[in-house]
Amino acid sequence: MARINEHYQKLAAGYLFPEIGRRTRAFAESNPDAAIIRLGIGDVTLPLAPAIVDAMRRAAEEMGTPDGVHGYAPDQGYEFLLDAIREHDFATRGVELSRDEIFVSDGSKQDSGNIQEIFGADCRVAVTDPVYPVYVDTNVMAGRTGGADAEGHYEGILYLPATEANGFAPGPPDQAVELAYLCSPNNPTGTVAPRETLAQWVAWARDCGAVLIYDAAYDAFIQDPALPRSIYEIDGARECAIEMRSFSKRAGFTGVRCAYTVVPGELHGTTAAGERVPIRALWARRQATKFNGVPYIVQRGAEAVYSPEGRKQTAEQIAYYMENARRLREGLGGAGFTVFGGEHAPYIWLRTPEGLGSWDFFDALLEKTHVVGTPGAGFGPAGEGYFRLSAFNSRENVDEAIGRISGAF
Ligand code: MLT
Repeated sequence: MARINEHYQKLAAGYLFPEIGRRTRAFAESNPDAAIIRLGIGDVTLPLAPAIVDAMRRAAEEMGTPDGVHGYAPDQGYEFLLDAIREHDFATRGVELSRDEIFVSDGSKQDSGNIQEIFGADCRVAVTDPVYPVYVDTNVMAGRTGGADAEGHYEGILYLPATEANGFAPGPPDQAVELAYLCSPNNPTGTVAPRETLAQWVAWARDCGAVLIYDAAYDAFIQDPALPRSIYEIDGARECAIEMRSFSKRAGFTGVRCAYTVVPGELHGTTAAGERVPIRALWARRQATKFNGVPYIVQRGAEAVYSPEGRKQTAEQIAYYMENARRLREGLGGAGFTVFGGEHAPYIWLRTPEGLGSWDFFDALLEKTHVVGTPGAGFGPAGEGYFRLSAFNSRENVDEAIGRISGAF
């Protein structure tokens, strides 16, 4: 019989969102009349913006003509999309990138899960706690950790508690590691790392030779223009950081699939013998071998996000979700919950009522109010006692959920 990768056996729990789906389905089956409101997984609910639909329709028609058919996409993405990204996401913020530093992909979940492959098996990894589970689980699968302890911390990973005291944006550790994952605006806490904290991380990474894996999948939800959207707005980050961005939440692409990862030319790693190797070359090699590019039709849709109409339409969608976030924050805050996040991110992070663990609160919320959220403990042990609500839903459902939750606990 084939030997399995036994590192998978160390995974302490199933992937978080399927588990929530399973519990929700079980509840729906035994309560067929319950009008369930889903504020669990952060999945968009608004239709694709018309500018994006038009661009994809035109691209599909082009593909149906002898001259317009497109086969495999270029490894790193079509130049029209790379240039739109460079101009609108970076040059406008004073960051210059070259085309070959951008890798268009089919999602930041994949990229943030796959990126660890190009680093040594013995690299030490730091994550915040709570954290997007993909960063941890993929390192467990790759064998960089031991088993999980009783609390759910994997041996060998350095966890940095993201707490109310540090604004859920911990600074760098007082020891060296090789890889550190950061996510801002943060999933799950919905908070954002201030410029000074990012500057501390960059200084630390340069000092100890670490690589920062900076997940900015929610950058478009930042409301304050003074807050950094890219890690490259911090001096020195080109030598120490990889950045991931996504069209999923910003333009409703969760079912379309398009994202990109930036690997600057200055970023280097080392071999055991001490030879300096550009990380960009490794990621290019990995992608060329394992990935055949994002479809032409999808990349034309992503390009349309940057057109004048696309920018306006997607900005309206983000404003809609952020108004949902404001209502959740203020509505539940007014109902006595202690609430965080939701100002620069589409997630609300709330303390569970006294004495209720976060999975217990999940069950009680579903039972009493028919509202689905995400237990904080699903994002790591320090998430225990907290709960995440997503702002991705209709205004009616969000208002209804606030009404149902207020007074239920
Ligand atoms: C979430 O709800 O945390 C996200 O939708 C998950 C993801 O982006 O993969």
